[in-house]
Amino acid sequence: MQRSLGTCYYPEHWDEDLWHQDARQMVEAGLSWVRIGEFAWKRMEPDEGKFEFEWLDKAIDILGQAGLKVVLGTPTATPPKWVVDKYPDMLARDENGSLRKFGSRRHYCFSHMGYLEQCRDIVTRLAKRYGNNPYVAAWQTDNEYGCHNTSISYSAVARDGFCAWLRTVFRGKNNDGDIAALNRAWGNVFWSMEYDSFEDIDLPNLTVTEANPAHVLAFRRYSSKKVVEFNRAQVDIIRQYCDTPIAHNYMGRITDFDHFEVGKDLDIASWDSYPLGFLEDRVGASKQEQIDFSLQGHPDFQAFHHDLYRAVGKGRWWVMEQQPGPVNWAPYNPAPLPGMVRLWTWEAFAHGAEVVCYFRWRQAPFAQEQMHAGLLRPDNAPAPAMTEVQQVTSELSDASDIIKAKARIALIFDYNSDAMWSIQPQGQSLSYFGLNFDIYCALRRLGLSIDFLSPDTRDFAEYGLVIAAGMMHMPDDLKAALAHCSAQVLLGPRSAARDAHMAIPVPLPPDLKDFDIAVAQVQTLRPEILIPLAGGGAVKGYFELIEGDDEDVLTTAKGVSVAKIAHNMIYLAGWLDDAGFERLLKIMCEKAKIGIVQMPYGVRRRRAGDEEFWFNYTADAVDTSVGTIAPADVLRL
Ligand code: GAL
Repeated sequence: MQRSLGTCYYPEHWDEDLWHQDARQMVEAGLSWVRIGEFAWKRMEPDEGKFEFEWLDKAIDILGQAGLKVVLGTPTATPPKWVVDKYPDMLARDENGSLRKFGSRRHYCFSHMGYLEQCRDIVTRLAKRYGNNPYVAAWQTDNEYGCHNTSISYSAVARDGFCAWLRTVFRGKNNDGDIAALNRAWGNVFWSMEYDSFEDIDLPNLTVTEANPAHVLAFRRYSSKKVVEFNRAQVDIIRQYCDTPIAHNYMGRITDFDHFEVGKDLDIASWDSYPLGFLEDRVGASKQEQIDFSLQGHPDFQAFHHDLYRAVGKGRWWVMEQQPGPVNWAPYNPAPLPGMVRLWTWEAFAHGAEVVCYFRWRQAPFAQEQMHAGLLRPDNAPAPAMTEVQQVTSELSDASDIIKAKARIALIFDYNSDAMWSIQPQGQSLSYFGLNFDIYCALRRLGLSIDFLSPDTRDFAEYGLVIAAGMMHMPDDLKAALAHCSAQVLLGPRSAARDAHMAIPVPLPPDLKDFDIAVAQVQTLRPEILIPLAGGGAVKGYFELIEGDDEDVLTTAKGVSVAKIAHNMIYLAGWLDDAGFERLLKIMCEKAKIGIVQMPYGVRRRRAGDEEFWFNYTADAVDTSVGTIAPADVLRL
């Protein structure tokens, strides 16, 4: 399969006269895909049951006849006003109980059955009409589940749904809910929180102090399931009418629903990559990194998501939206360093992307995103990114097809553990994402390529090193599969720290067979405190006191155990600084016989099969072992 480019287009924003010209220019720029429709419900169904699809027929025809393949989005992220008037209780409520009103987008609660029916109806109409359209070559469900904090809603319908779901989780003898079992599993004897019936259970918001973590976790799981079901409802309908591949566009560092579960129902995972937009508040980058990479984005944040979504997509993944210039929504919105749009595009291809689509075709001179760049300016002149897109187009003409390559290193990413960390971080700004991102960055600084794995994986035969850091709940069969695999395995901190309902298990964690180790105490540290390791590096943030007789691999300068080894497993008892992680990972790579290359600052490489790519994220030329790389440039070897 060839790598290709595309764009996101909103025919409903422009006079029909422009559609032909736009389609022609897209093809001239080398684009082959165009995503449309995902916010156009009001234009498709102006009033209940009154459908107007002629404009969409025409737009698809024009784009298709020009040679473009259409990704058709279902418009369920933007229910029109008449839908909200029909179901006033479909609006979500935030944690403070405030209504999330009509007037922007994503104003719906995943638990609302009436809204779900309404979505089924519009998706059925679309699938019937366009399922066999020769130009519709892919579908996108909804748009960015979870964007604007929308996968968790504290509405009355969510509460009813939650109570009903809990009954099924704690099923008793007669298949009716067993409230005593719930009380036991959640530890509700504490603070007299025991319930007499499932109807007594409210949502875990607006409590005086923190709600029971088991209660919060259950609600997180319920909310995640609702996203999965909402998505599946659309997929099931589309599949009745065609076998065109179906994608969803996920986001960067949105972890509050289980993407692997959503991904099981889809053919393609895609995500929306805004490297400059993310730098300030999503990455957790240091001040220095924010300065050094303000026009480039963090050198590992995009790659992390490319690798993660490749796994979510079971190998098939795209960038559905690629930042092409300044955006409108970040704390600061600079223009990318010249070269970066090309670099980001090639980086996605290097990680296995089939398609990279730029958001958006033409900058809209109206409404919320009027300050957001496109490939064209509002006056139709090309925006600066267009030259770089054309360059990628010409480079693609002699590029190889997509290579599905396996890395030697795998990182298990578990959305459930992310929820557990966020419910009880035990220290400000400590997170599962942050821990795994730090490990990922350290691996990349050692020039390594990484695969992600879902927490359901039990076969690790292809890997030399497997990492399940911070995976707070680890089923016994996963522990066993890791203990018996041929790879080196890194666990901790916090791996296997809780049972499925968020309680500390006894025997104490991590409770591994053939590994004499127990976490006796957990402490977290202020961000400015570093506990030096013997031999270099330090523990920061999170530090467990571990007991056991197995051999130490790392200790503090004062001789306290930081990492222990037994057989193929290392248990790490603390969160390390950059130097510490690099040291530990070098030790593990050596055991796994995986070669490393220390990368210069801001330079990253990715190996995929016979291909090797080097990316210079800095604003200066950098000398490397494979040659000098110009600022914001890519070497393809
Ligand atoms: C994405 C979204 C697009 C657009 C874009 C602006 O999150 O899917 O519709 O809003 O951001 O950067």
